[in-house]
Amino acid sequence: MSAQASKKLLNVLKGNQEAVPPIWLMRQAGRYLPEYRALRAEKGGFLALAYDSDAATEITLQPIKRFGFDGAILFSDILVIPHTMGQDLWFETGEGPRLAPRLAESRLEEFVPAPERLAPVIDTVRKVSAALSAETTFLGFAGSPWTVATYMVHGQGSKDQAEARRMAHAEPERFAGLIEAIISATVDYLGNQIDAGVDAVQLFDSWAGSLSPAQFQKWVIAPNAEIVRRLKARNPNAVIIGFPKGAGGKLAAYAEGTGVDALGLDETVDPHWANRELPKGLPVQGNLDPLALIAGGQVLKEAADNILSAFADRPHIFNLGHGILPDTPIENVEMLLKLVRKG
Ligand code: CP3
Repeated sequence: MSAQASKKLLNVLKGNQEAVPPIWLMRQAGRYLPEYRALRAEKGGFLALAYDSDAATEITLQPIKRFGFDGAILFSDILVIPHTMGQDLWFETGEGPRLAPRLAESRLEEFVPAPERLAPVIDTVRKVSAALSAETTFLGFAGSPWTVATYMVHGQGSKDQAEARRMAHAEPERFAGLIEAIISATVDYLGNQIDAGVDAVQLFDSWAGSLSPAQFQKWVIAPNAEIVRRLKARNPNAVIIGFPKGAGGKLAAYAEGTGVDALGLDETVDPHWANRELPKGLPVQGNLDPLALIAGGQVLKEAADNILSAFADRPHIFNLGHGILPDTPIENVEMLLKLVRKG
């Protein structure tokens, strides 16, 4: 058997069913792991870790060594794209990311691009790719243009993405220019990740849920379709997971309109509904509530069983509906693996 054929997660992404669904967890490398917290304390902040390819390699591998997940996800962040486009990026302890100057008060044309900032991330991809076993699928990722734009405009996370939504309506041509610049940087970045060894990539659209249907078409479906088109032209074997968080009733339109190979579902989606409504045979990923993982016990068992039964007849990758939370007990992750792998 070739190395490719033994990667269960990649096999499902290509449209095949596995008797036992492969599993990985969004944000699986990070603060709930004591070995991550120890390395972070030693090396300084999060960004220092992400741009240190030896540290980032070790962190990418930590959850694989501990739990044996079927997929490893590159340790980086969606905000390295604004950083390489020339915005300053830092993380405020206990608060989250900051980008400056904000596009609400500045212009993209004033930024000085810094392409060298991504070099260590691509080095991490090479190192992880060399270290992973032949069974583990290696996932790269980037943020989707809309979600990345919300941070670039607001300069930080925001509750309802109001400033980006305002700009998208009031200055659609300027906003389209920003989206095009992000598309272009993202295709380069993901193409370089694939060239350096990732098996598939995920597009995180964490704030896709804040848009009206017409704006969703314009700023979520169209830009993601463009990334899929350009990336597959650059790397014909590219395998792409789209994760439009909060898309709800617009999920089928997203899947058909973008041409992604697989669809990530958040925890607000009823898996039985999704299985009925989504194109037959389309691989799906998800969608356990991260809070059910924290609860553990019978709550976790019932929630996991419900998802497994809903997707029993479709290519399915087990995952959370959103990132694992820092206060998740390690033993609940171990229990989930046993539930999905049936002991
Ligand atoms: O899944 C993984 O473990 C791989 C690495 C990864 C990180 N961020 C590392 C990280 C991935 C895939 C991301 C994606 C990401 N980053 C998204 C999209 C997915 C989602 O959760 O909605 C977004 C919106 C970001 C931006 C971001 N990065 C925020 C808002 C924050 C602060 C809040 C938080 O969750 O900590 C980060 C920091 C961040 N990115 C950490 C990690 C491990 C925490 C850093 C730390 O404090 O040690």
